[in-house]
Amino acid sequence: MKRSQLRAAICACALLSFVQLAIPGFSQRRQQPVKPSGPWMDTSLSPDQRADLVIKEMTLDEKIAVLHGVGMPTDDSLTPENMPSNRGVGYEVGVPRLGIPGIDMSDAAYGVRSSGANGRYSTALPANVAAAASWDPDAAYEYGKLIGTELRAQGYNMSLGGGVNLTREPRNGRTFEYLGEDPILAGTLVAKLIEGTQSKHVIGDIKHYALNDQESGRNSVNITISHRAARESDLLAFEIGVEQGHPAAVMCSYNRVNGDFACENKWLLTDVVKKDFQFSGFVLSDWGGTHSTEKASAAGLDNEEPGRIFYEAKYKAAVEAGTISQAELDEHVHRILRSMFAAGVIDYPRQRGVVDPLAGLEVARKIEEGGIVLLKNKAATLPLVPLRLHTIAVVGAHSDVGMISGGGSAQVDPPGGNAIAKPGEGATRWQQEIWFPTSPLKAIQARAPKASVKYDSGDDPTAAAALAKTADVAVVFAYQWESEGMDLPSLSLAHNQDALIAAVAKANPHTIVVLENGSPVTMPWVDAPAAIVEAWYAGSDGANALANVLFGSVNPSGKLPNTFPKSEVDLPHSTITQPPPVSRHFDGAATPEQWAKGLPPFEVTYDEGLKVGYKWYDAENKPVLFPFGYGLSYTTYRYSGLSVTPGDKVKVSFTLTNAGARAGAEIAEVYAALPATAEEPPKRLVGWSKVQLKAGEKKTVEIEIDPKYLSIFDEAKDGWTLVPGDYTIMVGGSSDKLPLKAAINLK
Ligand code: BGC
Repeated sequence: MKRSQLRAAICACALLSFVQLAIPGFSQRRQQPVKPSGPWMDTSLSPDQRADLVIKEMTLDEKIAVLHGVGMPTDDSLTPENMPSNRGVGYEVGVPRLGIPGIDMSDAAYGVRSSGANGRYSTALPANVAAAASWDPDAAYEYGKLIGTELRAQGYNMSLGGGVNLTREPRNGRTFEYLGEDPILAGTLVAKLIEGTQSKHVIGDIKHYALNDQESGRNSVNITISHRAARESDLLAFEIGVEQGHPAAVMCSYNRVNGDFACENKWLLTDVVKKDFQFSGFVLSDWGGTHSTEKASAAGLDNEEPGRIFYEAKYKAAVEAGTISQAELDEHVHRILRSMFAAGVIDYPRQRGVVDPLAGLEVARKIEEGGIVLLKNKAATLPLVPLRLHTIAVVGAHSDVGMISGGGSAQVDPPGGNAIAKPGEGATRWQQEIWFPTSPLKAIQARAPKASVKYDSGDDPTAAAALAKTADVAVVFAYQWESEGMDLPSLSLAHNQDALIAAVAKANPHTIVVLENGSPVTMPWVDAPAAIVEAWYAGSDGANALANVLFGSVNPSGKLPNTFPKSEVDLPHSTITQPPPVSRHFDGAATPEQWAKGLPPFEVTYDEGLKVGYKWYDAENKPVLFPFGYGLSYTTYRYSGLSVTPGDKVKVSFTLTNAGARAGAEIAEVYAALPATAEEPPKRLVGWSKVQLKAGEKKTVEIEIDPKYLSIFDEAKDGWTLVPGDYTIMVGGSSDKLPLKAAINLK
């Protein structure tokens, strides 16, 4: 470049800067961060040391700026011009002057949300509850890793996935986003999921902390629960998730707990998560879940999302007035910055790239194959043998074109749009049933190419039964759709599907029911069909995974992470307590003032306490439809030779034999009954192992039990304690079938 050209270029740049300052709108454009440099880029220093070096250089305004988001794309305050990603749901601006990037957040429960609006593709993994049904930590890691990979490719550096609220209330509309009713299973799996996401240098999140176990009135409900019951149930899932998965972020929930909103609850944020779990990352509020400045800050909330009602001007004024100390401000800033260094978002800046849809499909298919649960299989109806089938009837649940997905902020956009969209219906919408274009009909036909496969919508049970009567086998699909922002009115299948199943099963003795659901469903027709397959929300390649199980190229190995009760009357709470009308439709009906102040509380008391899921049914002697940990296989397994050795960690060893003629994977489960003086429910899961076995193969399985998993939470000493006495260790393939038992005395 000649000197005169250089001069002209410099002038042009200066003019552009002037124009940018002078024209309204331009100034709102994203300030391009300088390339990170400075002593904090010394990677031999710890994330804490690096954060402190940055803080030394920051002005008060810069510190305040990292404490809050700048709005949501729906406000139009975030545009592709001021945001490097595809416009997720939140953006925190970072410290551009010092080369610290912004934090670009997207929902990513079972895949990256809202890609469709940006003309991008994301893989929909099977719902989180399906991954939980695999009981497979390696699968959970792959699940998180795929999410991290696709987030990064779309320009994000933070995931808002990691939901781990326990299924205390199975009608909760977000049950599909969570990992079941047992804290040890859910906590172990969420830790692996977070580890997988963070391996791609994306900030991982665990949510919704805590006890956000119903959607009805979630912004106002006050949950009353004892510390012991909370620590041994819902909070234990978070404890394991934080300690083993090291998430960089915890999202506090909308609800109140024992009087205070979760996002300004000192017990939850400071005493439990930061001090007791030794969480070193940052706490951000659920969207609109911040309700104060001084109180929230002192309680331990580090970051307000998605906006800046309490953590911008009001926060600055509080610091200037001395009602929030400089040290308290610095502590919040430190946690945010140290998490960015720890997760690697500064050392490995995100790079937009092309998502690999085929790789994603394969991960999604394998996870679904491992999570499908075979609930019933009379007279070895499954697997199907194509040569024996001349006619197959496929009935119901849009199974000609697709499979349903879970809704709300978890919603992933299907390629090509909703598979059941009517012409002219464009993008997917909030709280609309979204069907992925993975067709069970086509997948079944592909595996039985010589059979005549016929479809009936199931809208008219009589017509469906007539078709089923003519077929060698009938496969009925039934679904229960759920979403954030609502709870299920009941666990019954909606849309007359109970009658449909009963009619088809009556017409054809070889009827197979396939369920697509997130929460447990009741089955008044359970005795009628020959086989029942739980497929959950099956993800982008669900139909192939399902067909592989139906036709036996995959031997089912999933087990239920939630109990299926016989009826709602058996649940701890007969109905879900509803809020007073103002907060019924959680955001819509509330004015911004009501929202910020906090909607009037209404009370829900978790007096079932420790008795969540199977612990409730066990303790109350209530027979169930299908128990926690239950699932069949095309082979059978034998358990023998239990030995239990006390020590720092109790060691459990036994022999597992595949007694059948097919290879398979068995989830071997270990439960403990605590001494009577512990006053616990009859048993709890304390360990498991998913063991691959060839036909006829035998393996010794060894499982070590973390002492915390045998302990109780002692409120008096505010810590875990092992109650001395006699313990029974039980081993088997389902919580209701534990053939091996041994007694040990622990001191
Ligand atoms: C949900 C969160 C979500 C956030 C951002 C909230 O309504 O509860 O799970 O991450 O919105 O979309």
